[in-house]
Amino acid sequence: MPPILEVSDLVRKYGDFAAVDGVSFTMQEGEVFGLLGPNGAGKTTVISVLTGVLPPTSGTARIGGHDIVREQAAAKRLNGLVPQDLALYPTLSARDNLEFFGRIYGLSGAELRGRVDAMLDLVGLEDRADDPIERYSGGMKRRANIAAGLLHQPRLLFLDEPTVGVDPQSRHHIFESVRRLNQERGMSILYTSHYMEEVELLCDRVAIMDQGRIIAIDTVKSLVSMLAGVIHVGLRKADEELLRALAALPTVNSAVDAPRPLRSSLPDDEAGDGPVAPPADYQMVKLEAGDVQRSLVDVIALLGQKGIEIVSLQVLEPNLENVFLHLTGKRLRE
Ligand SMILES: Nc1ncnc2c1ncn2[C@@H]1O[C@H](COP(=O)(O)OP(=O)(O)OP(=O)(O)O)[C@@H](O)[C@H]1O
Ligand SMILES: [Mg+2]
Repeated sequence: MPPILEVSDLVRKYGDFAAVDGVSFTMQEGEVFGLLGPNGAGKTTVISVLTGVLPPTSGTARIGGHDIVREQAAAKRLNGLVPQDLALYPTLSARDNLEFFGRIYGLSGAELRGRVDAMLDLVGLEDRADDPIERYSGGMKRRANIAAGLLHQPRLLFLDEPTVGVDPQSRHHIFESVRRLNQERGMSILYTSHYMEEVELLCDRVAIMDQGRIIAIDTVKSLVSMLAGVIHVGLRKADEELLRALAALPTVNSAVDAPRPLRSSLPDDEAGDGPVAPPADYQMVKLEAGDVQRSLVDVIALLGQKGIEIVSLQVLEPNLENVFLHLTGKRLRE
């Protein structure tokens, strides 16, 4: 079976400006793929080109083996788009909107009604299906928007920021619907979001985009492993010799004195409670480690051998947000 999506050196310009500047990646059937990037990185433009909303300036892409330009109709049948901006008629009910979109896809009669009911159920809007969209909350509108992109049962779904500006209940609902579509129906999903925890939980692989290019592409685990974790350990006594012994542990990259601990030595620690400043007779040591869990075991064993009391311990593991900041120099959103 061909990959569900193959993108090869895709370029899309607006005038002289390349919003998408040579993007290549492949998605296997059944994969959930995350596209991350700061505002203006080119995520929506990639999706617009892949779904036939905009023609590419150059490069090629295939959906289920079908060229998105030369075999546009076949490529379009295989994919569904849930756009970043709502595409629903506000005065019509969700049911009427879905029936309207279903007819565009060539559905009718009992099949159309059955699909509309199933999609309303999937996104949890059965109760409000006959209210006009304009009376929906932002989250409910987004859920209706998702249902519209699913009516023709695509094999590949493009979800562009489906949870942005959405209340927590709808966010959870959307997140669970996406997970079910993937796990129960094997649907392949390309997902853009700036909620890192969603991407970490949902996506098999992630591409980080900046200024029209993909600057990193890998599993969340591999991306995160490019950054070291940090262990802050408060000790009763830590001399130069101990620091050297800690740094010599195979699982520890470095060990330094940290007399006045920062709130965090990772760039985006927002947890709030950094290591508490120790009383005068304690000393803080900052350790860096690729695999924090393994290194903790070694550090605690060494301190135990030497009979040195541990007064406090804090572990900061790197996450996708840190990786993103490290690679782009930007936060995903303020
Ligand atoms: N119709 C247009 N005409 C000119 N420039 C455009 C147009 N649409 C988008 N751009 C530019 O292309 C670049 C990529 O925009 P795009 O919407 O793809 O970014 P994005 O990654 O989806 O951002 P966001 O996270 O804000 O949704 C931006 O610099 C944007 O200003
Ligand atoms: Mg966008």
